[in-house]
Amino acid sequence: MDTITLKGRSLLTWLDYREEEIRFLLDLAKQVKAEKQNGESRRRFAGKTIALIFEKRSTRTRCAFETAFGEEGGHPVFLSTQDIQLGAKESIEDTARVLGRMFSAIQFRGFKQSTVEALALYSGVPVYNGLTDSFHPTQALADIMTLEENFGKAPGRKLCFVGDGRNNVARSLMVICAKLGVHFTVITPAGLNPAGDLVETCRALARTTGAEINVTPDLGEVAGADAVYTDVWVSMGEEAKREERFRLLASYQVNQALMDRTGRKDSIFLHCLPAVKGEEVTSEVIDGPQSRAWDEAENRKHTIKAVMLATL
Ligand code: CP
Ligand code: NVA
Repeated sequence: MDTITLKGRSLLTWLDYREEEIRFLLDLAKQVKAEKQNGESRRRFAGKTIALIFEKRSTRTRCAFETAFGEEGGHPVFLSTQDIQLGAKESIEDTARVLGRMFSAIQFRGFKQSTVEALALYSGVPVYNGLTDSFHPTQALADIMTLEENFGKAPGRKLCFVGDGRNNVARSLMVICAKLGVHFTVITPAGLNPAGDLVETCRALARTTGAEINVTPDLGEVAGADAVYTDVWVSMGEEAKREERFRLLASYQVNQALMDRTGRKDSIFLHCLPAVKGEEVTSEVIDGPQSRAWDEAENRKHTIKAVMLATL
């Protein structure tokens, strides 16, 4: 088997990564979590800097990057659009070129996937996608880690995403599941199906890993699921769609009755957070015994640290 080396790589979408590379990152994240739990402290980012650019708000992603980098001796710098020129008075290319001269790496959270791609193209340093309208890859890595903490190796497991099937979280899960051989079902009303070209791409990838990728409006498809996943009905930047989403998704709430339709007492509930309790999920489920949402949130930090350790 090839030695896995990811030095210098960006993480923009899991489409750019091979199955063995994702497996390597998952194993590294587990190691990093164990080190933390054993109280081990290292300084593997000493002398390094990372620019954390945020066009949209964040609790978990910002805090995961900032603490993971800082506790290893690195210096994170938070930059909101109130602080820097980013496509406003200066082109994204020029900002990227300058940041690349000053920082070891860049994290970007914002609207367009093309922005994070331009940062990667022009900065010359590793760039990490901390969420765009299209993808949320670091989230998906933490989700698979959490699945594996509960069920062992993820390949062959069944994950059902219930809700807005066209959003960034559903799309990233579809890609990582296809790459790793995890069966993935998007349960969503017809108006919110994930883009057909991405579904086709994932199905083609899945042919080599044995994953089944399904899109259906049928809530009964949660039967047998190891994990039921949901996300907000209205993603950041889509606030104008609120009424339409409620109309389409009202019957897609993850409540205990839906969890029971898995037919399994050991099935788990996942949510990337932030959650709007009473909308996409009930308190009973997210605060209940099947929920792993808080482990999942913690795992954001370990997986993000693993990605930075591997690529820096
Ligand atoms: N899950 C997630 O990305 O959370 P934040 O929006 O708080 O970063
Ligand atoms: N789909 C959500 C994810 C938040 C982490 C959003 O984009 O707002």
